[in-house]
Amino acid sequence: MAMNGILTGNKPLAAVVADIADVAGYIWQKGWGERNGGNITVDVTEHALPGWDSLPALCEPVAIGCALPALRGRWFYAKGTQKRMRDLARDPMANGCVIRVTDDGAHYVIVADSAVMPTSELPSHLMVQNFMRGSGSGYTATLHTHPIELVAMSHHAPFLDPVVRQEEGLQANRLTRVLWSMIPETLAFAPLGIGIVPYQVPGSMALAEATLEQIRDYDVVLWEKHGTFAVGRDIMDAFDQTDVLNKAASIWLRARSMGFEPDGMTAKAMTDVQRIFRLPKRRSN
Ligand code: 13P
Ligand code: ZN
Repeated sequence: MAMNGILTGNKPLAAVVADIADVAGYIWQKGWGERNGGNITVDVTEHALPGWDSLPALCEPVAIGCALPALRGRWFYAKGTQKRMRDLARDPMANGCVIRVTDDGAHYVIVADSAVMPTSELPSHLMVQNFMRGSGSGYTATLHTHPIELVAMSHHAPFLDPVVRQEEGLQANRLTRVLWSMIPETLAFAPLGIGIVPYQVPGSMALAEATLEQIRDYDVVLWEKHGTFAVGRDIMDAFDQTDVLNKAASIWLRARSMGFEPDGMTAKAMTDVQRIFRLPKRRSN
Protein backbone atom coordinates (compact mmCIF):
# COMPACT_ATOMS: atom_id res chain seq x y z
CA MET A 1 0.00 0.00 0.00
CA ALA A 2 1.31 3.49 -0.85
CA MET A 3 2.87 5.10 2.22
CA ASN A 4 1.54 8.60 1.59
CA GLY A 5 -1.67 7.68 -0.12
CA ILE A 6 -5.21 8.76 0.64
CA LEU A 7 -5.61 6.06 3.31
CA THR A 8 -2.84 7.53 5.46
CA GLY A 9 -4.33 9.04 8.61
CA ASN A 10 -7.89 8.08 7.60
CA LYS A 11 -8.74 4.98 9.62
CA PRO A 12 -12.44 4.81 8.66
CA LEU A 13 -11.55 4.88 4.95
CA ALA A 14 -8.72 2.38 5.47
CA ALA A 15 -11.26 0.03 7.13
CA VAL A 16 -13.63 0.30 4.15
CA VAL A 17 -10.80 -0.39 1.71
CA ALA A 18 -9.58 -3.31 3.85
CA ASP A 19 -13.07 -4.85 3.55
CA ILE A 20 -12.96 -4.35 -0.23
CA ALA A 21 -9.59 -6.13 -0.30
CA ASP A 22 -10.99 -9.00 1.80
CA VAL A 23 -13.96 -9.41 -0.56
CA ALA A 24 -11.62 -9.39 -3.58
CA GLY A 25 -9.72 -12.23 -1.89
CA TYR A 26 -12.91 -14.23 -1.26
CA ILE A 27 -13.88 -13.79 -4.92
CA TRP A 28 -10.54 -15.10 -6.10
CA GLN A 29 -10.71 -18.07 -3.70
CA LYS A 30 -14.21 -18.93 -4.88
CA GLY A 31 -13.09 -19.03 -8.49
CA TRP A 32 -15.38 -16.18 -9.42
CA GLY A 33 -12.59 -13.79 -10.42
CA GLU A 34 -10.57 -15.22 -13.30
CA ARG A 35 -7.97 -12.75 -14.60
CA ASN A 36 -9.51 -9.26 -14.25
CA GLY A 37 -13.06 -10.60 -13.94
CA GLY A 38 -15.48 -8.65 -11.77
CA ASN A 39 -15.47 -5.16 -10.30
CA ILE A 40 -16.42 -3.18 -7.23
CA THR A 41 -17.42 0.39 -6.39
CA VAL A 42 -18.04 1.83 -2.93
CA ASP A 43 -19.26 5.35 -2.15
CA VAL A 44 -16.64 6.66 0.31
CA THR A 45 -17.93 10.24 0.55
CA GLU A 46 -18.76 9.90 4.24
CA HIS A 47 -15.05 9.35 4.90
CA ALA A 48 -13.86 12.31 2.80
CA LEU A 49 -11.61 14.74 4.66
CA PRO A 50 -11.70 18.55 4.18
CA GLY A 51 -8.42 18.47 2.22
CA TRP A 52 -9.90 16.21 -0.47
CA ASP A 53 -11.44 19.19 -2.28
CA SER A 54 -7.99 20.42 -3.15
CA LEU A 55 -6.66 17.05 -4.36
CA PRO A 56 -5.41 17.53 -7.93
CA ALA A 57 -7.20 15.57 -10.65
CA LEU A 58 -4.90 12.86 -12.04
CA CYS A 59 -6.68 12.83 -15.42
CA GLU A 60 -8.86 15.01 -17.62
CA PRO A 61 -12.58 14.69 -16.83
CA VAL A 62 -13.97 11.50 -18.41
CA ALA A 63 -17.60 11.36 -19.59
CA ILE A 64 -19.66 8.73 -17.73
CA GLY A 65 -22.19 8.57 -20.60
CA CYS A 66 -25.16 9.94 -18.70
CA ALA A 67 -25.99 12.54 -16.04
CA LEU A 68 -26.19 11.27 -12.47
CA PRO A 69 -27.52 14.16 -10.37
CA ALA A 70 -27.45 12.34 -7.03
CA LEU A 71 -23.70 11.71 -7.41
CA ARG A 72 -22.51 15.29 -7.98
CA GLY A 73 -19.26 15.81 -6.07
CA ARG A 74 -19.27 12.32 -4.53
CA TRP A 75 -16.21 10.11 -4.13
CA PHE A 76 -15.98 6.42 -4.97
CA TYR A 77 -13.42 3.68 -4.62
CA ALA A 78 -13.43 1.70 -7.89
CA LYS A 79 -11.54 -1.41 -8.98
CA GLY A 80 -9.16 -0.56 -11.84
CA THR A 81 -10.00 -1.80 -15.32
CA GLN A 82 -7.98 -4.87 -16.27
CA LYS A 83 -6.85 -5.25 -12.64
CA ARG A 84 -7.05 -8.64 -10.95
CA MET A 85 -9.14 -9.30 -7.83
CA ARG A 86 -6.30 -11.40 -6.45
CA ASP A 87 -3.91 -8.45 -6.82
CA LEU A 88 -6.46 -6.02 -5.38
CA ALA A 89 -6.69 -8.28 -2.34
CA ARG A 90 -3.08 -7.52 -1.38
CA ASP A 91 -2.77 -3.94 -2.73
CA PRO A 92 -6.15 -2.24 -3.20
CA MET A 93 -4.79 1.23 -4.00
CA ALA A 94 -2.45 -0.03 -6.73
CA ASN A 95 -5.30 -2.01 -8.33
CA GLY A 96 -8.07 0.53 -7.90
CA CYS A 97 -8.57 4.24 -7.51
CA VAL A 98 -10.64 6.93 -5.84
CA ILE A 99 -12.65 8.99 -8.30
CA ARG A 100 -14.72 12.12 -7.81
CA VAL A 101 -17.87 12.71 -9.86
CA THR A 102 -17.68 16.28 -11.18
CA ASP A 103 -20.23 18.93 -10.27
CA ASP A 104 -22.16 18.40 -13.52
CA GLY A 105 -22.79 14.78 -12.45
CA ALA A 106 -21.77 13.58 -15.92
CA HIS A 107 -17.97 13.15 -15.67
CA TYR A 108 -15.40 11.85 -13.23
CA VAL A 109 -11.78 12.53 -12.41
CA ILE A 110 -9.32 10.21 -10.68
CA VAL A 111 -7.97 11.78 -7.48
CA ALA A 112 -6.02 9.01 -5.75
CA ASP A 113 -3.64 7.27 -5.32
CA SER A 114 -2.40 7.07 -8.92
CA ALA A 115 -3.94 7.31 -12.38
CA VAL A 116 -5.43 3.78 -12.43
CA MET A 117 -8.43 3.92 -14.81
CA PRO A 118 -11.64 2.68 -13.14
CA THR A 119 -13.48 -0.44 -14.25
CA SER A 120 -15.06 -0.70 -17.71
CA GLU A 121 -18.38 -1.51 -15.97
CA LEU A 122 -18.45 1.96 -14.38
CA PRO A 123 -21.74 2.87 -16.18
CA SER A 124 -23.58 0.05 -14.38
CA HIS A 125 -21.95 0.80 -11.04
CA LEU A 126 -22.56 4.55 -11.11
CA MET A 127 -26.10 4.36 -12.52
CA VAL A 128 -27.02 2.00 -9.69
CA GLN A 129 -25.12 4.14 -7.15
CA ASN A 130 -27.15 7.13 -8.39
CA PHE A 131 -30.38 5.19 -7.79
CA MET A 132 -29.29 4.07 -4.30
CA ARG A 133 -28.21 7.57 -3.31
CA GLY A 134 -31.25 9.22 -4.89
CA SER A 135 -33.67 6.92 -3.06
CA GLY A 136 -32.00 7.55 0.30
CA SER A 137 -31.32 3.82 0.75
CA GLY A 138 -28.05 4.25 2.66
CA TYR A 139 -26.53 1.55 0.40
CA THR A 140 -22.92 2.29 -0.60
CA ALA A 141 -21.57 -0.78 -2.41
CA THR A 142 -21.97 -2.46 -5.78
CA LEU A 143 -20.33 -5.74 -6.83
CA HIS A 144 -20.13 -7.39 -10.23
CA THR A 145 -18.61 -10.87 -10.31
CA HIS A 146 -18.67 -14.15 -12.28
CA PRO A 147 -20.06 -16.80 -9.87
CA ILE A 148 -19.75 -20.12 -11.63
CA GLU A 149 -23.04 -21.86 -10.78
CA LEU A 150 -25.31 -18.87 -11.34
CA VAL A 151 -23.63 -18.13 -14.67
CA ALA A 152 -24.07 -21.79 -15.64
CA MET A 153 -27.80 -21.56 -14.85
CA SER A 154 -28.02 -18.44 -17.05
CA HIS A 155 -27.21 -20.66 -20.06
CA HIS A 156 -30.63 -22.34 -19.73
CA ALA A 157 -33.43 -20.35 -21.41
CA PRO A 158 -36.22 -21.34 -18.97
CA PHE A 159 -34.25 -19.77 -16.10
CA LEU A 160 -34.09 -16.48 -18.00
CA ASP A 161 -37.88 -16.08 -18.05
CA PRO A 162 -38.48 -12.76 -16.26
CA VAL A 163 -42.20 -13.35 -15.70
CA VAL A 164 -43.18 -13.21 -12.02
CA ARG A 165 -45.63 -16.02 -11.28
CA GLN A 166 -48.03 -16.50 -8.35
CA GLU A 167 -48.13 -19.85 -6.60
CA GLU A 168 -50.11 -20.12 -3.37
CA GLY A 169 -49.18 -16.57 -2.40
CA LEU A 170 -45.53 -16.93 -3.44
CA GLN A 171 -44.47 -14.48 -6.12
CA ALA A 172 -41.24 -15.12 -8.02
CA ASN A 173 -39.69 -15.51 -11.42
CA ARG A 174 -38.67 -19.07 -12.23
CA LEU A 175 -34.99 -18.84 -11.28
CA THR A 176 -35.73 -17.09 -7.99
CA ARG A 177 -38.31 -19.75 -7.13
CA VAL A 178 -35.82 -22.56 -7.76
CA LEU A 179 -33.04 -20.84 -5.76
CA TRP A 180 -35.27 -19.90 -2.82
CA SER A 181 -36.49 -23.49 -2.60
CA MET A 182 -33.00 -24.95 -2.00
CA ILE A 183 -32.60 -23.83 1.66
CA PRO A 184 -34.66 -21.42 3.79
CA GLU A 185 -31.69 -19.07 4.25
CA THR A 186 -31.64 -18.20 0.55
CA LEU A 187 -35.12 -16.71 0.89
CA ALA A 188 -34.34 -15.18 4.30
CA PHE A 189 -31.20 -13.40 3.14
CA ALA A 190 -32.13 -12.65 -0.48
CA PRO A 191 -35.85 -11.92 0.08
CA LEU A 192 -36.19 -9.87 -3.12
CA GLY A 193 -34.65 -12.64 -5.24
CA ILE A 194 -32.69 -12.42 -8.47
CA GLY A 195 -33.58 -10.32 -11.54
CA ILE A 196 -32.73 -11.21 -15.11
CA VAL A 197 -30.84 -9.06 -17.59
CA PRO A 198 -30.73 -10.54 -21.13
CA TYR A 199 -27.25 -10.62 -22.67
CA GLN A 200 -25.72 -7.21 -23.41
CA VAL A 201 -22.20 -6.15 -24.40
CA PRO A 202 -19.96 -5.85 -21.29
CA GLY A 203 -19.41 -2.25 -20.22
CA SER A 204 -22.26 -0.91 -22.37
CA MET A 205 -24.82 1.71 -21.40
CA ALA A 206 -27.51 -0.77 -22.48
CA LEU A 207 -26.23 -3.21 -19.85
CA ALA A 208 -26.20 -0.42 -17.25
CA GLU A 209 -29.76 0.65 -18.06
CA ALA A 210 -31.10 -2.91 -17.93
CA THR A 211 -29.26 -3.50 -14.64
CA LEU A 212 -30.76 -0.37 -13.09
CA GLU A 213 -34.27 -1.43 -14.11
CA GLN A 214 -33.88 -4.84 -12.44
CA ILE A 215 -32.05 -3.78 -9.28
CA ARG A 216 -35.05 -1.60 -8.35
CA ASP A 217 -36.93 -4.85 -7.64
CA TYR A 218 -34.30 -7.49 -6.84
CA ASP A 219 -31.39 -8.01 -4.43
CA VAL A 220 -29.08 -9.28 -7.17
CA VAL A 221 -29.27 -9.16 -10.96
CA LEU A 222 -28.07 -11.99 -13.24
CA TRP A 223 -26.36 -10.87 -16.43
CA GLU A 224 -27.11 -13.65 -18.97
CA LYS A 225 -24.00 -15.71 -19.81
CA HIS A 226 -21.79 -13.26 -17.92
CA GLY A 227 -22.21 -12.76 -14.17
CA THR A 228 -24.05 -11.07 -11.34
CA PHE A 229 -24.51 -7.51 -10.12
CA ALA A 230 -25.34 -6.96 -6.45
CA VAL A 231 -25.88 -4.01 -4.13
CA GLY A 232 -25.37 -3.74 -0.39
CA ARG A 233 -25.10 -1.46 2.61
CA ASP A 234 -21.37 -2.16 2.37
CA ILE A 235 -19.18 -4.44 0.26
CA MET A 236 -19.49 -7.42 2.66
CA ASP A 237 -23.28 -7.16 2.35
CA ALA A 238 -23.13 -7.09 -1.48
CA PHE A 239 -20.82 -10.12 -1.37
CA ASP A 240 -23.19 -12.01 0.98
CA GLN A 241 -26.17 -11.37 -1.30
CA THR A 242 -24.28 -12.91 -4.21
CA ASP A 243 -22.92 -15.75 -2.07
CA VAL A 244 -26.28 -16.91 -0.67
CA LEU A 245 -27.82 -17.04 -4.14
CA ASN A 246 -24.82 -18.80 -5.65
CA LYS A 247 -24.85 -21.31 -2.76
CA ALA A 248 -28.42 -22.20 -3.72
CA ALA A 249 -27.35 -22.55 -7.36
CA SER A 250 -24.54 -24.83 -6.22
CA ILE A 251 -26.93 -27.07 -4.25
CA TRP A 252 -29.26 -27.31 -7.25
CA LEU A 253 -26.31 -28.25 -9.46
CA ARG A 254 -25.02 -30.90 -7.00
CA ALA A 255 -28.46 -32.50 -6.88
CA ARG A 256 -28.61 -32.51 -10.67
CA SER A 257 -25.12 -34.04 -10.81
CA MET A 258 -26.32 -36.83 -8.53
CA GLY A 259 -28.84 -37.57 -11.25
CA PHE A 260 -32.10 -36.21 -9.89
CA GLU A 261 -34.14 -33.02 -10.03
CA PRO A 262 -34.20 -31.62 -6.46
CA ASP A 263 -37.69 -31.48 -4.92
CA GLY A 264 -37.20 -28.01 -3.48
CA MET A 265 -39.22 -26.58 -0.59
CA THR A 266 -42.93 -26.23 -1.29
CA ALA A 267 -44.54 -22.85 -1.97
CA LYS A 268 -46.27 -23.18 1.40
CA ALA A 269 -42.95 -23.75 3.23
CA MET A 270 -41.55 -20.64 1.53
CA THR A 271 -44.50 -18.37 2.28
CA ASP A 272 -44.25 -19.58 5.90
CA VAL A 273 -40.63 -18.38 5.98
CA GLN A 274 -41.70 -15.03 4.48
CA ARG A 275 -44.43 -14.62 7.11
CA ILE A 276 -42.57 -15.87 10.19
CA PHE A 277 -39.44 -13.82 9.47
CA ARG A 278 -41.49 -10.85 8.19
CA LEU A 279 -39.41 -10.70 5.02
CA PRO A 280 -39.72 -7.64 2.78
CA LYS A 281 -41.21 -8.23 -0.66
CA ARG A 282 -39.99 -4.98 -2.19
CA ARG A 283 -37.34 -2.36 -1.52
CA SER A 284 -38.36 -0.08 1.30
CA ASN A 285 -36.88 2.95 -0.51
P1 13P B 1 -12.78 -4.61 -15.69
O1 13P B 1 -11.42 -5.24 -15.63
O2 13P B 1 -12.82 -3.41 -16.63
O3 13P B 1 -13.28 -4.27 -14.28
O4 13P B 1 -13.80 -5.64 -16.32
C1 13P B 1 -14.00 -6.92 -15.80
C2 13P B 1 -15.34 -7.47 -16.10
O5 13P B 1 -15.76 -8.39 -15.43
C3 13P B 1 -16.16 -6.87 -17.19
O6 13P B 1 -17.47 -7.33 -17.13
ZN1 ZN C 1 -17.72 -9.22 -16.02
